[in-house]
Amino acid sequence: MPVLKFPENFLWGTATSAYQIEGGNVYSDWEDYYPAGIACDHYHKYQEDFDWIVKLNQNAYRFSIEWARIEKEQGKFDQKEIEHYRKILLSLKKRNIKAMLTLFHFTLPKWFQEKGGFTKQENIFYFKRFANRIFDEYKNLVDFWVIINEPQVYAAQGYLLRIWPPKKRNPILYLKVLRNLILAHKIIYKGFHQKQSQVRIGIAKNNQFFEPYNPRSNFDKLAVKIASRWQNHYFLNKIKKHLDFIGLNYYFHNKIKFPFFIKNDNKIVSDVGWEVYPKGIYFTLKDLKQYNLPIYITENGVADKDDRLREKFIKDHLYWIWKAIQEKVDVRGYFYWSLLDNFEWEKGFKPRFGLIEVDYKTLERKPRKSAFYYAQICKTNHLAT
Ligand code: GAL
Repeated sequence: MPVLKFPENFLWGTATSAYQIEGGNVYSDWEDYYPAGIACDHYHKYQEDFDWIVKLNQNAYRFSIEWARIEKEQGKFDQKEIEHYRKILLSLKKRNIKAMLTLFHFTLPKWFQEKGGFTKQENIFYFKRFANRIFDEYKNLVDFWVIINEPQVYAAQGYLLRIWPPKKRNPILYLKVLRNLILAHKIIYKGFHQKQSQVRIGIAKNNQFFEPYNPRSNFDKLAVKIASRWQNHYFLNKIKKHLDFIGLNYYFHNKIKFPFFIKNDNKIVSDVGWEVYPKGIYFTLKDLKQYNLPIYITENGVADKDDRLREKFIKDHLYWIWKAIQEKVDVRGYFYWSLLDNFEWEKGFKPRFGLIEVDYKTLERKPRKSAFYYAQICKTNHLAT
């Protein structure tokens, strides 16, 4: 059986976000639209969850901090909650797990949203103040910082598609949000670097692999070029001088028919109907090589309640990541989405992305078979094909 080795010190982990797992985030803007209740009650069960990370041989963990918990009211920082996240970070350290911390993963304090959220440039001040406070508190406990998760997804869902809070359909606001997120990223990046020069800061960027529906059609090729420029490169180009690494969230492959119709074969689909197309991660990574930065796969996963696809999903994606590494793409880590089943935004608790199954009645955790498969790879740092 050929064995595919990964680079030394490769990070093997999983990813989560606060609102999706913690529970009790009643001060967050999402609460009024899609309440998550107690979710996985990770807020109280984090020790147990981190023990699983260790048992499953992972050496890294990506998670987020809920701003609305820390700053329930504008300007009032809650020391008790700051200590809570310190305990989380210390628990990871104690277990020798590298911590990647996201500052903004889709949810915001209600008061910030009421002020217009990221549609207003002057509001960046509040996000920066929160970010700086977090940095000062935890700078010695965090290994990697992600300032923003999937900015373009956030802006589109909230300001064009009316799906996520604040459920608007307004192209002007959409563009303002993007512009302000770019500004916020740069300002915070510079501030952190002034405080600590060797700090490592990135973004979690959702990039897709686009292909022409008809490879011989110049129109389809043009549509692919435009889609890719906008979706994959617009934001990155704006912040590329303010990045120490790129985090890639890879989920989608789309064949595009001119002008912008998506026509996929959809041979294999997950429980939420998303096509599984592992080779797309290879093309996406090759395309990111142009930035000349280290890359971490900050998310990649599948909704698969019965665990019929997950093992092969992981194996095939890792194969294509390995292949990109052989071709000199500097990939340094992989975070499977997600450690455990959780609140999948507007879709609620139905989609099951977890390596670990959660029984939402008893809150009991039970690793799926694929969790042990992944654990073997994490342990050996290689993939047996
Ligand atoms: C990402 C997002 C995660 C998670 C995942 C699966 O876009 O960052 O929070 O929900 O998709 O849909």
